[in-house]
Amino acid sequence: MNVFDTHAHLLDEQFDADREELLVSLPSAGITHVMEACCDEAGIDRVAALVGRVPYLYGSAGVHPHSADEWRPETADHIRAALRKERMIAIGEIGLDYHYDFSPRDVQRTCFDAQLALAAELGRPVIIHDREAHGDTMDLLRTYRGRLSGVMHCFSASCEIAKECIDLGLFIAFGGALTFKNAVNQWAIASKLPLERLLIETDCPYMTPVPFRGTRNDPTRILLTLKKLSELRGIDEETLAETLYENSFRAFGLER
Ligand code: NI
Repeated sequence: MNVFDTHAHLLDEQFDADREELLVSLPSAGITHVMEACCDEAGIDRVAALVGRVPYLYGSAGVHPHSADEWRPETADHIRAALRKERMIAIGEIGLDYHYDFSPRDVQRTCFDAQLALAAELGRPVIIHDREAHGDTMDLLRTYRGRLSGVMHCFSASCEIAKECIDLGLFIAFGGALTFKNAVNQWAIASKLPLERLLIETDCPYMTPVPFRGTRNDPTRILLTLKKLSELRGIDEETLAETLYENSFRAFGLER
């Protein structure tokens, strides 16, 4: 079985003690590809360096809404340069976070819009973070209709919004939250959407699936999310894994 973890933060300091061991162990655990998601400008070169030395990793470059107040016009050039490097393919994670509001909302919107424009110009997929900001996220995404590809990461909005995102060219990714006991809304959405537009991810070291909540997440735990989705869809894990693996390559515009 091959599994693509479509969203991880292996550069997080929580992996400092055992990052190399983990990187060596993942392919034999069935995690054959991982998308390392960038969060801020300082992370752009770090992601590119990690991806450059680990052949099964892909990377993104971008500024997370938490760090939106560091966005400058020159940041676009930094992202552009990073995306010329090997296996650096996506712009992310980008979006809006009105839960934490670590940057002012107008600044978040400016930063998100600038990076959507860059992705459209370069024809690159985006990795979108939308937390409690569904209205403004969709308003911005609609202005890029016909020029969007990529992923709605850690999806938490409604089924109607999921369908509209798919219509806009995006894939819908579910992580460890799908295994939470109160995730009734996500179960309903994950059961209904077209299978060929679904992805799974860990967002590790965060969003650890049940029964490991409260401990560090890592890419191997994606198998618990796979299991939950297999139950929801009534499809055996192997068949589902194969479909999701194919989907991951299509979502990021990669050749298999
Ligand atoms: Ni993330």
